[in-house]
Amino acid sequence: MTIAVVGTGYVGLVSAACFAELGHTVHGIDIDAEKIAMLRQGRSPIYEPGLEELLRKGLQSKRLIFTTDLPAALPHVSIVFSAVATPPGEGYRADLRAVFSVAETVARHANQSLLFVNKSTVPVGTGKQCEEKIAAILRERGCAFTIPVISNPEFLREGLAVTDTMAPDRIIVGINGDDAKSQQPQAKSQMEELYRPITRIGRPLVFMNRESAEIVKYAANAFLATKISFINMLTEFCEQTGASIRDVSTGLGLDERIGPRFLHAGIGYGGSCFPKDVKALLATAGQHGLRFPIVEATDQINTAQRQRFIEKILSRLPARAHIAVWGLAFKPKTDDMREAPSIDIIRALIDARHTVTAYDPVAAERAKPLLPESVAYAYTPMDAVRDADALVVLTEWDEFRGVDLITLKKGMKGDLLFDGRNIYEPEEVKCAGLDYIGLGC
Ligand SMILES: NC(=O)c1ccc[n+]([C@@H]2O[C@H](COP(=O)([O-])OP(=O)(O)OC[C@H]3O[C@@H](n4cnc5c(N)ncnc54)[C@H](O)[C@@H]3O)[C@@H](O)[C@H]2O)c1
Repeated sequence: MTIAVVGTGYVGLVSAACFAELGHTVHGIDIDAEKIAMLRQGRSPIYEPGLEELLRKGLQSKRLIFTTDLPAALPHVSIVFSAVATPPGEGYRADLRAVFSVAETVARHANQSLLFVNKSTVPVGTGKQCEEKIAAILRERGCAFTIPVISNPEFLREGLAVTDTMAPDRIIVGINGDDAKSQQPQAKSQMEELYRPITRIGRPLVFMNRESAEIVKYAANAFLATKISFINMLTEFCEQTGASIRDVSTGLGLDERIGPRFLHAGIGYGGSCFPKDVKALLATAGQHGLRFPIVEATDQINTAQRQRFIEKILSRLPARAHIAVWGLAFKPKTDDMREAPSIDIIRALIDARHTVTAYDPVAAERAKPLLPESVAYAYTPMDAVRDADALVVLTEWDEFRGVDLITLKKGMKGDLLFDGRNIYEPEEVKCAGLDYIGLGC
């Protein structure tokens, strides 16, 4: 099939490259001309394991084409995916301007029927709004064809985006039709054909109505965020009672009904999805006159946990300390700095008149414009800790887990280790002569 993917960010670019790898021809479209120029040279504007290789293969096979010209691509494609950003807008409601702008461009320039598939995370009812806007423009233009709007939310994880896209846990497709039972049979069969290389390896393609699909995405993110906040809620309790959050988490996660994932205590979630989607779900619920107290608590606990960690650090540091920070990205294997806890934590350290040298394997360049100018950057973890009174670990990169703690202690001036991701065993750290401060122990 020949398709377009509009928006070549973390989601759109990975989707475009993977669809090309699966044999489709893909027009990757973005308004950012610089990004498109880079992509045409086979260079990825983002760090994502395995992506650049797919990009080069796609360009070589000519199944991947990059352009800023959406109208020019339309005559060639049967499906347009919209994967543009939906950042927080007024009152934390999702800002849908980019989604509507893509829908309008498609409606104004399409000369044949095609599917408009929304991959961005959008509040329930957005698909309906898009369809109404598109239909109004097509009527105005006197077009006899229709452009059905489909919801196909994305669940990939940054850092594992290529694997997640090639072999997802599930593909959710929301389609509405005049006849609810038929559910736009043509649209359904086109989506089946598009995803056949993935369903062939046993991954489920689940059809439902558009509203359900839109809600699944927010429900999934809010549920995962709630698991994180639930375990974080217990950290202070463990600290006060002499329990260990690691043991509590192990004991809890071994229950098959609960499962161990997303039960790792730390400084809480960040990134481009959980914080904004949790808040946007609350905003949408409010628009429907509803309140979701569990989700409200999830958000509050996340904010409080970050603040509690900042207070722990500040209460232990000597005046005008020099601090090494390991990890800036909101999680490992990505350079994404959106809503990274490192931003608030480093700002608080600098505001308290301490100095900071930071190290991150891939995110330093993206971090620089977001962090105070006085922050220095190191090229290796050990360079960062030189002369440091304290080390603060903010992202659980594998290279930090495996560090030799005795060498670390020798490389530092002081002996304070603040472990924001609970990646070290407290006893091992203490044996190396360091003072361990984690969360929940
Ligand atoms: N990043 C993730 O891990 C992730 C996972 C699942 C879902 N999502 C959702 O997917 C959507 C995209 O997220 P992202 O992280 O890829 O965003 P992003 O900011 O990385 O990428 C968005 C891209 O869209 C482009 N763009 C904006 N307006 C445009 C327009 N009118 N025409 C063409 N291009 C336009 C931007 O230049 C940018 O390249 C969001 O709704 C997000 O919530 C993200």
